[in-house]
Amino acid sequence: MEHDLKKIISQMTLEEKAGMCSGLDFWHLKHVDRLGIPEVMVSDGPHGLRKQNDKGDHLGMNDSIKAVCFPPACLAACSFDRDLMHEMGSAIGREAQANDVSVVLGPAVNIKRSPLCGRNFEYYSEDPYLAGEIAAAFINGVQSEHVGTSIKHFAANNQEYHRMSGSSEVDERTLREIYFPAFETAVKKAQPYTFMCSYNQINGTFASENKWLLTDVLRGDWGFEGYVMSDWGAVNDRVPGLIAGLDLEMPGSGGFNDAEIVKAVKDGSLDEAILDQAVERILRIIYLYADNHTPQEFTMEADHEEARRIAEESMVLLKNDGVLPLNPSEKIAFIGGFAKNPRFQGGGSSHINCFRTASALDSLPEHAQVTYAEGFPADRDAYDETLAAAAIKAAENADKAVIFAGLPDSFESEGYDRSHMQLPSCQNRLISEILKVQPNTIVVLHNGSPVELPWRHEVKGILEAYLGGQAGGAAVTRILFGAVNPSGKLAETFPEKLSDNPSYLFFGDGDKVEYREGIYVGYRYYDTKEMPVAYPFGYGLSYTTFAYSNLRLDKETMTDSDTLHVSFDITNTGSVAGKEIVQLYIRDLTGSTKRPLKELKGFEKVSLEPGETKTVTIELDYRSFAWYSTNLGDWYAAGGSYEIQVASSSRDIRLLAKVTLKTARVLPLHVHKNTTLGELCRNPRTKEIAEKLANQILAGMGAGASEAASEAISDEMNTAMIDSMPLRALRSFTGMSGEEMDGIIKQFRAAADGNV
Ligand code: BGC
Repeated sequence: MEHDLKKIISQMTLEEKAGMCSGLDFWHLKHVDRLGIPEVMVSDGPHGLRKQNDKGDHLGMNDSIKAVCFPPACLAACSFDRDLMHEMGSAIGREAQANDVSVVLGPAVNIKRSPLCGRNFEYYSEDPYLAGEIAAAFINGVQSEHVGTSIKHFAANNQEYHRMSGSSEVDERTLREIYFPAFETAVKKAQPYTFMCSYNQINGTFASENKWLLTDVLRGDWGFEGYVMSDWGAVNDRVPGLIAGLDLEMPGSGGFNDAEIVKAVKDGSLDEAILDQAVERILRIIYLYADNHTPQEFTMEADHEEARRIAEESMVLLKNDGVLPLNPSEKIAFIGGFAKNPRFQGGGSSHINCFRTASALDSLPEHAQVTYAEGFPADRDAYDETLAAAAIKAAENADKAVIFAGLPDSFESEGYDRSHMQLPSCQNRLISEILKVQPNTIVVLHNGSPVELPWRHEVKGILEAYLGGQAGGAAVTRILFGAVNPSGKLAETFPEKLSDNPSYLFFGDGDKVEYREGIYVGYRYYDTKEMPVAYPFGYGLSYTTFAYSNLRLDKETMTDSDTLHVSFDITNTGSVAGKEIVQLYIRDLTGSTKRPLKELKGFEKVSLEPGETKTVTIELDYRSFAWYSTNLGDWYAAGGSYEIQVASSSRDIRLLAKVTLKTARVLPLHVHKNTTLGELCRNPRTKEIAEKLANQILAGMGAGASEAASEAISDEMNTAMIDSMPLRALRSFTGMSGEEMDGIIKQFRAAADGNV
């Protein structure tokens, strides 16, 4: 149906328009009956529906309708599977349609800067490319059911400590390369109906009133077409927020801020056109939902099975020294309360009221010989001698022990951060005790973010189940017993210990959090530092093996408008069917600036029968090679050589090739008296004049030098010193006059601007 939005807006009163820009209550937007503007509802999100009826709250305290809890983002991202994420999105979209929910509040794509962030379980990855691809697929899935999404929390909301007031102090290159791209990719590949701005400030300005963020970057640079809503209670100052591009305040302020808007229009401090524009954006999305509302048939039973399948495709096998899969003829001891009551979701606004759950114990295959011992209290850190003794005995009497370890609910949640990265010490202690009597010990982990694994060299198997959603327990059993071949890979690095993390010294302190590690987040840091890690980014085992071969590029040299196709073959060399996640990283060899050793720029998940070979082709373009130059105000890839790395994880590179980029683009060079000769020699436009000048100086330095002097300062040393010599030094070292130096600066400026 066509709606003349401008006409509708012209018929609204000023008060109605201001009112449209804030919620009716916790979950509804306002309606205007006389103009036929319908009331619509939004709901959390992100991994299932949390639709509350009355007594709404944003912290997950009050009940919501029964729904299906799909795997939270920490696990789902490990699938590296765009199609699967699309399916998960459309299942949630169908549930939302059937329940009259117009916008699902998700996905949440903040980068995992530190393992301590209490909300990491809701976020996808430490890598912006992976987070963006997964988010876009999920959004396209939800929106294919004509239900909107609200990608959140925009931006740089990477901790819970002081989340509503603190300022994330981040330089622009880091924002553009690390903290923005997941949002940017989502806009460009999926155009989410709405954006949710974060609570925090960015470099001293609240996200909710940050014009650069909400208008210049989001709409100007990326082309976002929907409306921006605030996180719940994120509005600091309403009128500046509206001017900055924050269209909808949620949940509202009891009319206070609406009155501020009315007052500002009346006293002339707010241009009414800005208000009209916000209302238009909101109305467009309301009608996009209302006009396409098609009540859906769905069964929670079927979605439960879908949730299990997603969990099975995502769990990560970290270690297997020949102990898995389990065999039903073996006597197995399941130890730990999580075997009976798995921890499968996190606390806070994403908490789903599940219609059903499946534990590992509930889901045993027929004839499995499994005994169970609780071992430790799953909800707190307390070593219980009686529980432990029974567990040790069960382990001793079995052929293998599987310990279901993990973080209690109180250890990680929305609203606060962890203070350490350890499992409860009672669990670590029990694992060591069991290892004394049972060498064939396997640990299954239930956690939303990495933990330190002090026993990882002693146990024979580790399955990272993360938080698996309501059917996660069934997925664990099916992987343990080999009904499913594990195929997830880590979407984040597991460092050996917390203090190895690059944000360790600067995380979560005071009202200003300085992101001093800059672009070196996750493997970008660990790999560049060549630091040992427990398990690298992109790592995960299978019950089969894969061989990589035959790497070829469709061109050896590309221009900045070309696409490059990278192809290679992948073969299942084992005896069972399996799936391999292949990754493509790029290493910049041009030396144009400091960059991480490698950056993920492509991935695929490939399903292979035993002995089968498939060819994978990944497409790259100029942006794949580029970094963000604040000098240029744009993405930039220097001409020169780049390494293409085809890998099974960030630390397991299987195939290598090089490509040369040819480009006429150059970085702007602002020449002044402190510009060095080295900089001028490396800029293609000033190179020729600079080298000539450098040679003249070198010749002057060498001429007439005594043997002793040549020994003291070699030609190489002279060259190196000239590299760092600013133009102003020409006066001191070459006898150049002030006028001559000014003339040279002018000549260089003209060359740098391309005027020579
Ligand atoms: C959370 C959001 C959530 C909102 C509504 C806020 O506290 O940060 O992620 O969507 O509440 O529940």
